[in-house]
Amino acid sequence: MKLPVYLYGHPVLRKISEPIAPDFEGLKTLIDDMYDAMYKSEGVGLAAPQIGLNIRLVVIDADPVSETFPDCAGRKLTLINPVIEVLDGDAVKRTEGCLSLPGISEDVARVEHIRLSWVDADFNPHTEEISGFLARIVQHECDHLEGKLYIDHISAIRRQLIRGKLNNIVSGKTRVDYPAKYAPRRR
Ligand code: NI
Repeated sequence: MKLPVYLYGHPVLRKISEPIAPDFEGLKTLIDDMYDAMYKSEGVGLAAPQIGLNIRLVVIDADPVSETFPDCAGRKLTLINPVIEVLDGDAVKRTEGCLSLPGISEDVARVEHIRLSWVDADFNPHTEEISGFLARIVQHECDHLEGKLYIDHISAIRRQLIRGKLNNIVSGKTRVDYPAKYAPRRR
């Protein structure tokens, strides 16, 4: 099934997502569909709220950025009920974008080292220390599960500067070259 990416302004992106139980019906098909949607939109990560579901599921394939970030080579992660523990308090700024915020990219400060715990598609538990750009992708995607977007981390001045672009996404004026779902129209 082709899943559209829900865009900024849609309330589903602002809700806290629920944990997933092992008997969740159709989970593997959903995961496959999320990878399809992510590849179609040329993203390196996609969280379930972005396809309209408030459940704690994230797919990541960081391989496309491995020329710039060699650590990302071959890194593909399906995260169910992920938990992040910060291992390094020093934040580093790098540019981020988001499939739910087309046409925008901003510098975001995030820590470089985390310990990530999650279960995979078979509900096998994993824990791994992750650093560098992959740690950034994981933090960005897990923010989505808390109803947070990367623009929540930028300064009020920067947010003011992109307000026009944000309004264009909300009002459906932004062109998106992948299947997308705009916010419901407000009257
Ligand atoms: Ni995102």
